[in-house]
Parts: sequence; structure tokens; C-alpha cells
Amino acid sequence: MPKIMRTVRFTEMANGTAEEYAFLQRHERAYIRELPARLIAALEQLDESLAGYPVSRLQHSLQSATRALVAGESEQLVVAALLHDIGDGLAPLSHSEMAAAILRPYVSDRIYWIIKHHGLFQQYYYAHHFGGDRHARRKYQSHPWYQDCVGFCENYDQNCFDPAYRSKPLSYFIPMLKRVFAKPLDGDRAATETP
Ligand SMILES: [Fe+2]
Ligand SMILES: [Fe+2]
Repeated sequence: MPKIMRTVRFTEMANGTAEEYAFLQRHERAYIRELPARLIAALEQLDESLAGYPVSRLQHSLQSATRALVAGESEQLVVAALLHDIGDGLAPLSHSEMAAAILRPYVSDRIYWIIKHHGLFQQYYYAHHFGGDRHARRKYQSHPWYQDCVGFCENYDQNCFDPAYRSKPLSYFIPMLKRVFAKPLDGDRAATETP
């Protein structure tokens, strides 16, 4: 009777067999399917992150997603708004890129671009108070999604620190998050961005 494989035998990838890589691929697929649960746990951790603001990062994220929802944005954008600051804890100096990298296989190129650049675009609201250039985002002003990122920051980010705003709870967004992360996109990614 063949032995059940619990782990691969190789200690160097170069020595792995096709059977072992098929075994690992099954594990990896299952692990990817569990991504929504890990994202939800990471969002919950944002309730105890960066101090000093009138709302927690989780509340800020829920406010962002709720405002996008109320404005009639696509499900992808609402979920992107929910996750846009998920990199705050592990990538405090490059959080936009981290959130964008997580979203990239699951959202349109446009939404990926918006999230990737939101940190720089957001500097418009405060960089001048530190002697910085609040207009640094202008280097992208001829980009087709420039205004989309300006709008994201204006409507779903810089204004999402209001403790009186009635955001939807995290549980409201979980089915949306699971739908967006159900399957990576392929082919014409932009065409799959539907409300
Ligand atoms: Fe951010
Ligand atoms: Fe934010």
C-alpha cells in the first residue's frame, strides 16, 4: 500500500519530484482559498494600530468602504477601500504598495493603480505641513487614472476619520470580500470590473 505523503522529502527544491510538487500545489490551492479569513483577521488587528487619530485604522477602513459603497462604486472598489490601509502594520513606509500587491490578482488594473498610489496622492492633504511637496502627485497628472486616484483620496480616504460617521460593520463587507477574492482574474482584467 502506498504511504500517504505528509510532507515532501526534499530539502532542496532542485531535488523535488513531480509527485511532490503536485502534492504541494494542492496545499497551496487550499491555502489561497483561505486568504479571505487571513485578510479579515488582519483587518481586525487594525483596530489596535496607529494611535493619535480620532478613529482606529479599522474604523477608518470601514468608513472608507462604506463611503465607496454609498457612492455606488463597484464591489471591487469597495473591497479595495476596505483593504487600502491593511499594510499599515507591516509596511508603514510603503503601505500602499503592500495593499495593492494583495489586491492585484483580484481587481482591475485601474483599482490596483489607485490603491498603489493612494499614499502619494494623499500627501496632498498634509505634506506642506512638513515642508514637503503636496503636489508631488502631479508627476502622474497625464496618467489616465490620475483623477480616479485624486477622487479616491478626496472621497474615500482623507475624509474618513469622523468618529460620528455611521459605517457598516466589518461583517457587512465579508461576503463582498469573499466574492472578490474567490478567484484570481485573468484575461481582460479591466473588463471584469463590474458593479
Ligand atoms: Fe493609506
Ligand atoms: Fe487611508
